[in-house]
Amino acid sequence: MTKNTQTDNFAAKAGSWDNPSKIDMTNKFVAALLEKVNPEKDWNVLEIGAGTGLVALQLLPLVNSITFEDTSEAMLSELQSKLKGDENVNLFHGEVTEISEGSFDFAVSCMAFHHIPNLQNTLKHIHQITKPGAIVAIGDIHTEDGSFHHFDPIPHTGFDTEKLSEIFEENGFKTLSVSDYNVLTRERTPGIFSDYTQFLLIAERK
Ligand SMILES: C[S@@+](CC[C@H](N)C(=O)[O-])C[C@H]1O[C@@H](n2cnc3c(N)ncnc32)[C@H](O)[C@@H]1O
Repeated sequence: MTKNTQTDNFAAKAGSWDNPSKIDMTNKFVAALLEKVNPEKDWNVLEIGAGTGLVALQLLPLVNSITFEDTSEAMLSELQSKLKGDENVNLFHGEVTEISEGSFDFAVSCMAFHHIPNLQNTLKHIHQITKPGAIVAIGDIHTEDGSFHHFDPIPHTGFDTEKLSEIFEENGFKTLSVSDYNVLTRERTPGIFSDYTQFLLIAERK
């Protein structure tokens, strides 16, 4: 892992991240993803905001290598503890924009994009470290009122997928599809249940 001195906002959550709710959420994402994308055996994959690896560890048997990127050292430590040691993986602690080189065939991210402040710079950089024709798959939630994160400050309270697609297009990607794959129902305010719809955006690097 590389060094990164920012506050680890996920440190307190990392040890209990892999609970039934998160496992169900990520399994639904992977199922939706595999309906749209056929991973290939020679693919080198980047997972952005990989956390404890609940998503891309499922893809590992299908591809050549995976780079798991995250700004939380604690989340990556949980991921490290699940590895046997002989996997073709790399754990990168830092912002994706700090990955200096790469030629990834596929980049995937689940519920992490809303934590990334500057998506223009991030997508511009992802363009630089992916191959022409590479696929990028992003799972996140549609625009919400801030309650999903208990009104804590967060870079993006979900996304307007048309605007998100435009940011992809502006940075050298063609949006192939946007589809909803799950609805999370959460009681963020006592007695009030809200629905947060999750979408999957698939884009191709030009
Ligand atoms: C909601 S969790 C999702 C984790 C994992 N993708 C999953 O679905 O289980 C969001 C993750 O994004 C990471 N994160 C937060 N800010 C980030 C950033 N600027 N760049 C990359 N990852 C970030 C967090 O550390 C955390 O692991």
